[in-house]
Amino acid sequence: MHEDINKDVCTFIMLLFKCMKISIVTLLTTVSFAALCMGAGSIFSYKPVPVSFTSPKGWPAPVYNFNGNPLTKEGIALGKKLFYDPLLSSDNTVSCATCHEPSAAFATYDHPLSHGVNNLTTRNAPSLFNVAWQKEFMYDGRAKSLETQALLPIHSSDEMDTNIPVLLKQLNASPSYKKMFTAAFGASKITVDQITRALSQFQLTLVSANSKYDKVMRGETSFILPEKLGYEIFEKKCVSCHTPPLFTNYSYENTAITRDPILKDNGRERFTGKGADSLKFKVPSLRNVALTFPYGHDGRFYSVLDVLTHYRASGLIPLTNFEIGQLTAFLNTLTDSSTLTNPAFLPARVLINNKIPNHAHQ
Ligand code: HEC
Ligand code: HEC
Repeated sequence: MHEDINKDVCTFIMLLFKCMKISIVTLLTTVSFAALCMGAGSIFSYKPVPVSFTSPKGWPAPVYNFNGNPLTKEGIALGKKLFYDPLLSSDNTVSCATCHEPSAAFATYDHPLSHGVNNLTTRNAPSLFNVAWQKEFMYDGRAKSLETQALLPIHSSDEMDTNIPVLLKQLNASPSYKKMFTAAFGASKITVDQITRALSQFQLTLVSANSKYDKVMRGETSFILPEKLGYEIFEKKCVSCHTPPLFTNYSYENTAITRDPILKDNGRERFTGKGADSLKFKVPSLRNVALTFPYGHDGRFYSVLDVLTHYRASGLIPLTNFEIGQLTAFLNTLTDSSTLTNPAFLPARVLINNKIPNHAHQ
């Protein structure tokens, strides 16, 4: 009898041990799994939504390497926030959009030279539309990628004049930025590389391909007579440099301009050191040209009329007054109003519930 009881107790104790062993193993596994999850929390929550880049029909393939910096909803949103944030400048007054104004097709309008934190720059900021098709940046082509370009204004003393380690500290200390960077890139520490990649992602979405010109090309509407005559003159006298559909061939050309005695800007020569590149500047796109005055690398031409009068007076391109009038009518068809008012491109402060309020149109 005693023996039986002993046996039962023994079995019970053994069972208890077995159970405990299982629960200890389970407990250990759960604890270590939880620790793993907590440690790598950012990786588990890092699921950015991919965005595909669609090239307008009939356009060449974009040259930007999207595999190296795939577009995501989170990356674009972060790039947009950075683009409009004056935190990127040393005294927190200048954002990318201060010089690349959305209402002027992301160019500087109204005054010839863009100005930053300390002083005037020496050039007029170009439009940022359709950068996905651009291989080199700046009027002299000195920036070889969109990412290296972005660093130039951030630390240039006459633009944003920012100390990058200080900027990184500020961003790393901001809970909202930390959240957005983690959502876009997964890593727990914000880096310069992530800043430039996010800025690129936003800029790459700026595609302008819905002007009256595009609608005519798609057979949706037609030119009125002066526009049609202007288009024919444009095809003869301008397309060699301002080649459609991007309205630039991305080459560097000397358009018979004189060197400004104060700015002493020799254009591409400043970068290549070659005398043959003296006064050559990147051919700008003419998309949205009606909005981006003043014109030329240093904003020396106040109107399209001034540019065309210069082409004629310098002997570069013979033009009659009649041709200048028709060309101007054609160039106005390159304004892409629907894209310019796309809420996705505009700063949060002009939007209510992600829409432009009615009074903005008045
Ligand atoms: C102080 C005015 C100013 C600010 C601020 C500024 N830019 Fe610019 N940007 C310019 C000027 C001027 C140029 C032309 C410079 C040149 O050709 O040397 C330019 C050129 C560019 C280009 C090259 C475009 C082309 O067609 O080659 C890109 C891209 C660009 N800026 C993006 C940015 C981004 C992104 C920011 C914010 C991080 C920024 N810019 C801030 C004035 C500014
Ligand atoms: C040989 C190449 C070439 C030809 C041909 C040419 N352009 Fe240009 N165009 C340029 C270059 C380069 C610039 C920029 C000059 C500068 O930055 O100072 C420019 C600038 C302009 C601008 C100012 C745009 C801006 O955003 O600053 C307008 C407008 C313009 N061209 C219109 C025309 C028209 C219209 C024709 C035809 C009658 C034409 N161009 C023919 C090379 C050319």
